[in-house]
Formats: sequence, C-alpha cells, structure tokens
Amino acid sequence: MKEILHQLRCIGCGARIAGAEALQDFRCAVCGELFDVEYPGWSKRGGNDRPNAGALKWLWRERRSSREELDCSGVWRFRELLPILDDFSNAVSLREGNTPLYHMTRAAMALRIDLLFAKHQGMNPTGSFKDTGMTAAMSVAKERGFAWVACASTGNTSASMAAYAARAGLRSLVLIPEGKIAWGKLSQAMDYGAVTCQLKADFDGCLRLLSQIVKEAPIYLLNSVNPYRLEGQKTPAFEIAEAFDWSVPDHLIVPGGNLGNSSALGKGFREMYELGLVAKMPKISVIQAAGANPLVRSFREHQAASLEPMEAHTRATAIRIGNPASWRKAVRAIQESGGWCLDVTEAEIAIAKAEIGAEGLGCEPASAVTLAGLKKLRAEGKVATAETVVLMLTGHTLKDADYTINFHRGKLLQIDEAEGREAEIASLRRDAVAVEATPAAVLDALKGSAR
Ligand code: F0G
Repeated sequence: MKEILHQLRCIGCGARIAGAEALQDFRCAVCGELFDVEYPGWSKRGGNDRPNAGALKWLWRERRSSREELDCSGVWRFRELLPILDDFSNAVSLREGNTPLYHMTRAAMALRIDLLFAKHQGMNPTGSFKDTGMTAAMSVAKERGFAWVACASTGNTSASMAAYAARAGLRSLVLIPEGKIAWGKLSQAMDYGAVTCQLKADFDGCLRLLSQIVKEAPIYLLNSVNPYRLEGQKTPAFEIAEAFDWSVPDHLIVPGGNLGNSSALGKGFREMYELGLVAKMPKISVIQAAGANPLVRSFREHQAASLEPMEAHTRATAIRIGNPASWRKAVRAIQESGGWCLDVTEAEIAIAKAEIGAEGLGCEPASAVTLAGLKKLRAEGKVATAETVVLMLTGHTLKDADYTINFHRGKLLQIDEAEGREAEIASLRRDAVAVEATPAAVLDALKGSAR
C-alpha cells in the first residue's frame, strides 16, 4: 500500500481527510472551515519520513549549485518539506523563489534599527509572491488531471495562475472586480491566455461566486483557500532562515489581504521549529490598510475570536479585501509568534512606498504597508533598536505604475488625506519635468532638483 505522506486537517473541527477527498471549494464538509496540509510522518520522532534537520540544511545548500530544473526552483529545492505530489516530475515551475533579501540601509537609519531587510517577493517570475504558492497548487491540479483552473483575484493571483496554467498546458479562468485592479496585472492575465471575466463585484463577491461555480463544473480552485497554495508560500520562510544561517530574525512584517500569506509564513516557521531546523519563531506582524482592516477590527473588538466582514476601500487594490478567507490561520500565526496586527492610512502607505522606491528597491502599494507598519510599531515601542526586522515586499513596483505616477505628480491623495504630511510628501515627490532639448535647459533642471 502506498504510504500517506500528506493529509488535510480541518482547522475548525480537526477532521482529517485524504488530499483528493476535499470538496471543490476546499471547505470542510462538517464545519465549513478551511484545511491545513499535514504530514503525519513528521510527528513520529524517528518515523521513517521525519526529516533530519542537519541533513536537510546540507542537502538544500548543495542544491543551490545544481542545474536540475527542480533544484533551480526556490520552492521545490525544499521539496522534503512539501511532499504533496505523488511524482515530482509533475511539478510546474518557472524557477520561482530564491528571491533577494536586501539590506534597507536608509530606512534602518531613519528608524534607528540596527538590521532591517526587505525580502523582495516581487522578484518572482510574474512579479509577486503568488508564484511560490502557484507552482505548488498548479502542480497538484496537473497531477490530478484537471483541464481547467480558476481564481478570483485582486490581480496578482490571476497573473500568476494564468502563467503557470499556460506552462502546465491547462486552461484558466479569472474573476476580477471591474475597474479595481491595476493594469499591469490585468495585462498579464491576458498575455498568458486566461479567460478573464471582469465582474461588477468586489474581490469577496468574486470569490463567493467562484466557490459556487467550482461545485458545478470540474474546475480546480486556485485561491489561497486551496491549502496547497500555502505549502508553496511557506517556502520563503525557509529561504529567510537559511539566509540568516538558521538563526531567524526577530520580526517579520507582512501585508494582510485575504491572509493566506501571513498564514503560510507562520506555518513555514512553525514547521521548521517543530522539526528542529530553527530554535525560535520570529514575531509575525500583519499590516492592513485602514480602509480594509477587518482583522485589525477583529483583534480590537472581538479579541480575534470572530471577524465581521466589511466593505473595503483602499488604493492599495491588492489588499482591498473585506472578508479574508484565511483569517483564523493568520490569527494563529500572530498569536503564537507574539506579533501584532495594525493598520495604516493611505498617506502612510504612499509615503512608505516612495521611501522604498528611494532605496532603489520599489514595490507595489500593498507591499509598502510593511514599512508604514514598522514605523508605527517602532513609535509604539514594539520593535527595539537591536532587533533584526524583515519586511515582506509582496509585489513588483511595475505592477501598479499608475499609482506611482499619480503620487509623484501630486494627484494621488486628497487634501485631507495628506493633511499634516505635506512637507514629507513634497520631499519624496520626483515628477518628470518638461524641458527644452538644450544642455542649458537640462542643467537648469538639475539645479532645480538639488536636495
Ligand atoms: N500584497 C500583494 C501585492 C498582493 O497581491 C496580496 C494579495 C497581498 C499582499 C495580500 O496577501 O491575501 O495572502 O493576505 N493579493 C491577492 C490577489 C488577494 O488576488 O492577487 P494575502
């Protein structure tokens, strides 16, 4: 009999089922909650598939110089900790992961923090962190013989899914909120050949509709309610631990939308801790936009025991989500790691994004909540000077060029939103100037921009 390497465990009632038995919407048939992927062999100390920490560290390092396709992926390089496929030759990879960890020297100096880093997940093949999860779940879709895959999206999931579906030879269906996603992301879904439906609904409405559709047609759902997505998205935790030579940073700061990413990173660090790869978990803090802050409200008003859906508004369209599916998993990651959950205003997001740009890194608006959140945590005394902090930058700056241009042209924020921050904003704005095509005019423009 084939050994069961993984199974699904309901985070609500604890029911365990085989991977292939999950309902199409990935909700528990008993209580309606979501599932986690679980590896039964790991809990048995000495069990035959319990990974050996020292051997893994050695093997993963060796693979960095390998030319094998799977080893070149920053997700599948860690495949011992994601045994979700019967046959790894089914893996659909675009060489995702292995993203850079940048030192943020200017922000560190301004905030008086010794060591501040950005893990730039925007440097993935389709420009966002979604690729690490998509390679995992798309591979499962392929192995299980699906012809169609689908997702609801604020843009990045759809871009990623469309690309991986094309690589796998599968067809893809995308549901997006009309007029509420950035052009860069929409153009990717088109380019990679998805059937793209723009709906008169928000992200939450799109996901609700899709959950019904997949019950009626043989389409594999690839939103982060699909627990295999989170298995891929936990691997940046392994990369971070490896980069710090297995002594993890003190604090990880993550943007919160549908809350799959914070949940996945929590799972990654938890599993490393349980397997003895690291000696502690970093604090994981989740930052939301003030207009899309259902988790912050849940902590503030209900001690994170329940969550009330809200109508969400923010220019950081990637995290314009009022009813986050994975909120219970994210609460676990925050609480068990001793992190915080807080929100930041539109002006704080815009300023932080411009500062990340000025470091030569750049990111999309949703990613910038991390730096904005760190400033608040620092001001509240929740991050000490000697702590090592990592910001998860989730998307590439080219994803939403309109936002950036509007900021630099002074057209992004309303007067009341920018109130009290005008000087700070003015010092960051770098609008393009129209000048005559003469050396004198260009040199004049230089003088005008002296800092
Ligand atoms: N940052 C970016 C750039 C995103 O695209 C998203 C989510 C998040 C942060 C939040 O991550 O949902 O795991 O809490 N984007 C999804 C999408 C919802 O459809 O692309 P989360």
